[in-house]
This record gives sequence, structure tokens and C-alpha cells, in this order.
Amino acid sequence: MSQKTILITGGAGFIGSHLVRRMVRAYPEHRIVNLDSLTYAGNLENLKDVESADNYHFVKADINDLAAMQQVISEWQVTGVIHLAAESHVDRSITDPLSFIHTNIVGTANLLLAALKHWQGGAEFDRFFHVSTDEVYGSLGKTGYFLETTPYDPRSPYSASKASSDHIVRAYHHTYGFPVVISNCSNNYGPYQFPEKLIPLMINNIRQSKALPVYGDGTNVRDWLWVEDHASAIDLIYREGVDGETYNIGGNNEMQNIELVQLLCDVMDDQLGRDPGSSRELITFVKDRPGHDARYAIDSGKIQRELGWEPSLTPQQGFKKTVEWYLANQEWLDRVTSGTYQTYYESMYQSAES
Ligand code: NAD
Ligand code: DAU
Repeated sequence: MSQKTILITGGAGFIGSHLVRRMVRAYPEHRIVNLDSLTYAGNLENLKDVESADNYHFVKADINDLAAMQQVISEWQVTGVIHLAAESHVDRSITDPLSFIHTNIVGTANLLLAALKHWQGGAEFDRFFHVSTDEVYGSLGKTGYFLETTPYDPRSPYSASKASSDHIVRAYHHTYGFPVVISNCSNNYGPYQFPEKLIPLMINNIRQSKALPVYGDGTNVRDWLWVEDHASAIDLIYREGVDGETYNIGGNNEMQNIELVQLLCDVMDDQLGRDPGSSRELITFVKDRPGHDARYAIDSGKIQRELGWEPSLTPQQGFKKTVEWYLANQEWLDRVTSGTYQTYYESMYQSAES
């Protein structure tokens, strides 16, 4: 088999780092190129265990730079793209919507155009995989599920920017016949998630006995998926998905935020040897997120039926493993919350560049 070069964008982030690790290990015969601009959310320490693998390569570049995207895709003779780079945090999109418009819409359009030109120029190119979110479908009431056919109804600057990028990706398939595939996934959890997101933020605060800020009344529902199961789904869709199709990915694991925070408190009390129930006293209800979506729930029947994917862990196993990981990696949490992780790139790569 000829060597492939798979470009993964956003590989220094949370989900991207799990995907890069998986692909580097699973496909030693192929080159895995991680393209990331290393925003506050990008942390190369997440990939320490694979950074010296022969088939792993890191390129620091910004998807907002079209010329850079064209250069990278052509120089590396990229045979496929898995696109995760994005601004990903809903709260930040409320205070700074424009950076979401730039990166998630224009950045995706840049990358798409560069890949399209490469493909139209006759290069070997398997497909462009756009990794998206269930938030594009809007907010559910107490019943029902998001299907691949559910009409888009994004309601935050983040989800609107992801929805726009999904439309542009689909338009490239319809207009140019460009081989694309899209996935829309529910909330991920697991190691290496930036502690601005609910689960690592709560774990970090519980360990420091700080207040646990639950938005509104805590009854909003999310469908939680172990991050490595998202990575396995992406790998499978990349290899076996059908061009032009969309696949929903979910954990079949709906929980109210308050139930989840209470569960984390109890697991942490157990693991830290604290009095049962003591961490729950840290729970503090705070002002709600503006436009807070009430409920997300994914029907992932299509990927299960058509590609045979299923989650590997039960929620009980996944949450326990997650808490264990953050407690065993408190230095990682400390470096991320203090900002010192941002010097890792300089220490690892700047000397090699000069
Ligand atoms: P993240 O914020 O942890 O990581 C994003 C990565 O993208 C970072 O490494 C960052 O440096 C990089 N990046 C940002 N802007 C860039 C730019 N202009 N050029 C190059 N790189 C840039 O995000 P995540 O939670 O790992 O999410 C990854 C993708 O999956 C996103 O597209 C997100 O919309 C999607 N998604 C996330 C979830 C979730 O629960 N986290 C669920 C479904 C879909
Ligand atoms: O559904 C997929 C999406 O899940 C991804 O596309 C996004 O990139 C990812 O950030 C995530 O979005 P959410 O807004 O659902 O995740 P977050 O961790 O920010 O919040 C989860 C829930 O917890 C949400 O209802 C808001 C609430 N929350 C969050 C924080 C940070 C709190 O109550 N308190 C908090 O401090």
C-alpha cells in the first residue's frame, strides 16, 4: 500500500490529541501531520508520548492563512484532511464572537479551498473530513433526539459558526463533487480537556475545595461521550464513511448538569478520602449562560447500523477513569491553569528550528 499523508488540524487540542495519538499508533505506515496554531487551547504536552514517533509530524500554522494552507497541503502531498481546528468554547463565543467567525467559518473555508485546488490539480486525495458538533441542531425539549436529518437551528455564536462551516463543506460536495464527510458529535469528556469546560473545571475546583459554579438551575441536559470513543468513530468514518454523508455520534448518556456535578463530587470524595457528601457543599448556583441550550441528545443509530461503531466504555467507567486521570496528572492541570504549558512549544521546537 502506498504511503498516505493524513493532515489533522487542531491536533494539539483536546479531541485532536486523542485522534492524533490513535492514528500515529494505528497507522505506522502512514504520515500523520498535526497542523495547529497553538491558541490558548493547543498544548503539545498532550502529545508527549507520540511526539518522537517516526510517522508523527507537527506543523505550526493558522487555518486563517490561506497561503499557508495551500503550502502545507502541497508540500506534504496531503492525501486526506481531518479538520478539528476551531474555537470550541461556547462561553468565549458569547464574549468574543468574531474570533469564532474567523476561525470556524473563514478558516474552514480556507482549508477547504486549499484541499479542493490540490484535488482538482490531480493529486491523490481520499477525503476531507469535517468534525462538527450536535449543537448545530439547536436545543431539544424533554423528549426527542437529534437525527442527521434534523433541521439546523444553531443558537450561540459558536454553534452558528460551526453550522455555517458545515454548510460550506456540504456545498463543496454538491458543487464540485469534492469528497467530504461530516460528523456531529455530542459532549466529549476525558483526559487533556482544557479546564474551562464543565468536567475538568469541576474536577479542578473540587480538588482545590473551590466553589463549583453551576449555571442556572443545573437542569440543562448534555449527552456525554468518552473522548477515545469519539476518536474511534472519526477513524472509522474517515476510512469507511460515504462521501457527502453526515454521521451523528453520541454517548447515549444523558445527564442533567447538576446530576453530573454531584456524581463528580462523590467520585472525588471517594478517591481523595474525604467525608462522603463533603464536596457537594461546594456547589454554587450562578447566573445562567445567555441563550443556554436546554437539552442535547443524539441518535447515533446510523453510525452504529452502517459502520458498526459503538462506545467502548459505560459512563460509570468513563467518569471514574477521567477523575483518576486528572488526579494522577495534577501537574498537567497546574501548568494549564497557570499558563506555563505555553512555554512547551518554545522548549521543544524553537531550538530545533533555529
Ligand atoms: P479544543 O479547543 O480543545 O482544541 C482546538 C484546537 O484547535 C487547539 O489545539 C487550537 O490550538 C487549534 N486551533 C484553534 N484555532 C486555530 C487556527 N486558527 N489554526 C490552527 N489551529 C487552531 O477543541 P476540542 O474540544 O478538541 O474540539 C475539537 C473539534 O471538535 C472542534 O471543531 C469542535 O467544534 C468539535 N467538537 C467538540 C466537542 C467537545 O465536546 N469538545 C464535541 C463535538 C465536536
Ligand atoms: O455538544 C457538543 C459541544 O459540547 C461541543 O461542540 C463544544 O465544543 C463543547 O465545548 C461542549 O459545549 P457545552 O457548552 O455543552 O460544554 P461546556 O463544558 O461548556 O458546558 C457543559 C454544560 O455545563 C452546559 O450546559 C453549561 C454548563 N456549565 C458549564 C461551565 C463551564 C456550568 O453549569 N458551569 C460551568 O462552569
